[in-house]
Amino acid sequence: MTPDSGTDLIRLIDLPVVSDPRGDLTFVEGETHVPFPIRRVYYLYNVPVDAERGGHAHRELEQVIFALSGSFRIKLDDGTARTEFWLRDPRKGLYVSRLVWREMDSFSQGAVCMVLASRPYEEGDYFRSHAEFVEQVRGAS
Ligand code: TYD
Repeated sequence: MTPDSGTDLIRLIDLPVVSDPRGDLTFVEGETHVPFPIRRVYYLYNVPVDAERGGHAHRELEQVIFALSGSFRIKLDDGTARTEFWLRDPRKGLYVSRLVWREMDSFSQGAVCMVLASRPYEEGDYFRSHAEFVEQVRGAS
């Protein structure tokens, strides 16, 4: 499960950047740069360097995850294969489909993680038990 392995589950998305002597500008349009209408934006900040975030998967939600500032690691698991990335470039988003377990850690000081999401917050959309997630995806295949 890598962005180049042909899987539809995860992939890196390169965003446009407009650079001039005043700095860099990057923009994101739903259904153009990310493959869904954007229904929700949230961001993580003030994350302690030893904190672990995520630790769940979603039944329907799709997301694109960015490091707007700083860096962090994201570990991904589709119930069969595992991979991990370091996000550190605000021009690159990581698309994560439904049914992918994710854990994020090793946030640098001052890191900001922005997430674009395809659905509003719905607690019922979460798998918060890894065992239940694995049972679901293995049972579905
Ligand atoms: P959670 O998704 O578990 O955070 P993370 O994956 O970053 O560790 O959410 C943490 C808490 O915040 C949980 O109580 C639900 C709440 N929350 C919302 O109310 N709205 C949201 O859009 C999100 C993402 C979380």
